[in-house]
Amino acid sequence: MSAAALRLGVNVDHVATLRNARGGLVPDPVRAALLAIESGADGITAHLREDRRHIRDEDMARLKRELSRPEIGKPLNFEMAATAEMLGIALATKPHAVCVVPERRTEVTTEGGLDVVGQQVALAPFVARLNDAGIRVSLFIAADPQQIETAARLKAPVIEIHVGAWCDAVIEGRTAQAGEEWHRIVTGATLAQSLGLEVHAGHGLDYATAETIAALPQIVELNIGHFMMGEAIFVGLAESVRTMRAAMDRGRSRIGYSA
Ligand code: PXP
Repeated sequence: MSAAALRLGVNVDHVATLRNARGGLVPDPVRAALLAIESGADGITAHLREDRRHIRDEDMARLKRELSRPEIGKPLNFEMAATAEMLGIALATKPHAVCVVPERRTEVTTEGGLDVVGQQVALAPFVARLNDAGIRVSLFIAADPQQIETAARLKAPVIEIHVGAWCDAVIEGRTAQAGEEWHRIVTGATLAQSLGLEVHAGHGLDYATAETIAALPQIVELNIGHFMMGEAIFVGLAESVRTMRAAMDRGRSRIGYSA
């Protein structure tokens, strides 16, 4: 059986972080999105946080408009918390996809997966509204069997596995913990696929971890931001996206996929 293609979603949040540091109009996350697409990204991800600390409402609207232009035609993945305000914005924006993430005002980044087991009563109508609107819903969760089974019961078509703990363990050389986290990811991805879920992964990936995880055939999309934006300072955004794409293609080729 040949492996499916592995898509790269480039998260442009931190272009907006840099812009907002001065409060002006540059650097523009929409310009970054278009350059990322030109350089090999399959789609763009942006997180509209409740506090608007990076992406703002008008960025999301412009991203949707620009990516929908016929000559570009790439998907927008709208990351958001499960709030009534965000649901309203998503339904008005009509992105290709929504990824529901947990959000706490005091966190530096999305720190853990969404607790879909604990929040299933609130999430059920939320997922249903997005499904009914034809927006592909993804739930950002840990590779935990109960969370995965609940996501499937809620009829979310996609889960994104939070791989941050594994990435941190690999990068910091904590080998035993990296091994345990990897086992959880493989087991979780296998379970999710067997339940009919499409499986994505994200958070904390760099070139090396993206290459490794690309060899998991169950995973069909990686969403990556912070590392690539950091690399862009040294090599430029186009080069950092191309290098990431090449790392993912090398990993995927180990399981027989050729781009
Ligand atoms: N996927 C999700 C759901 C996220 O919340 C984030 C961080 O915004 C990412 C992927 C990208 O993570 P990173 O910026 O660490 O690559």
